[in-house]
Amino acid sequence: MSEWLTIAMPKGRIFDEAAELLRQAGFNLPPEFEDSRKLIIDVEEEKFRFILAKPMDVPTYVEHGVADLGIAGKDVMLEEERDIYELLDLQISDCYLAVAGLPHTNMNDIAPKVATKYPKVAAAYFREQGEQVEVIKLNGSIELAPLIGLSDRIVDIVSTGRTLKENGLVEYEKIETITSRLIVNPVSYRIKDRRISEIVERLNLVISDVVG
Ligand code: PRP
Repeated sequence: MSEWLTIAMPKGRIFDEAAELLRQAGFNLPPEFEDSRKLIIDVEEEKFRFILAKPMDVPTYVEHGVADLGIAGKDVMLEEERDIYELLDLQISDCYLAVAGLPHTNMNDIAPKVATKYPKVAAAYFREQGEQVEVIKLNGSIELAPLIGLSDRIVDIVSTGRTLKENGLVEYEKIETITSRLIVNPVSYRIKDRRISEIVERLNLVISDVVG
């Protein structure tokens, strides 16, 4: 009898795409899976226990070993730098991290400010550019910051570009392309390697199919 696996899933926009990918790989998830409000969902048939976490917290659950596997955006991995392995680029939830702000504006010469959900990524980026900025951490609706004068620039995810456009903001620089990744706890990877390798293989087939 094969052992149970716990998988940390990111609640929100990645969730549906991740569930769809698992289905395409032949895993049998119940039809009500995406609509449930439960935070722990056991799928007896596959011996999967899903835990539904905030995207930014997925690597934390995996690093601590309470989840064997997790699905996390590259943006979260860049910001969190956890002790986990990245197994697969799932090539879903395609977007990118960018610097944006009000059009035709320069950064403040004396004390430039950058608002973001990704303080480490933003600080590293501006340091590399040789620019000293004050990074202001926000938890969402980042686009508000330049509109009301909290910051000169933002560092945020751009997906369709709609949020920037509808708020009259423009993109200044693209920082990095982002997709979702399958991540694993290093100990789980060692002791549950057969099951995990099988999952990776099945997902890989779907991904190469889509790409190829
Ligand atoms: C993300 C991101 C942008 C928006 C980009 O926010 O922070 O605000 O989506 O998507 P778009 O380019 O398709 O408009 P999210 O909806 O995750 O909510 P948040 O404001 O709480 O971060």
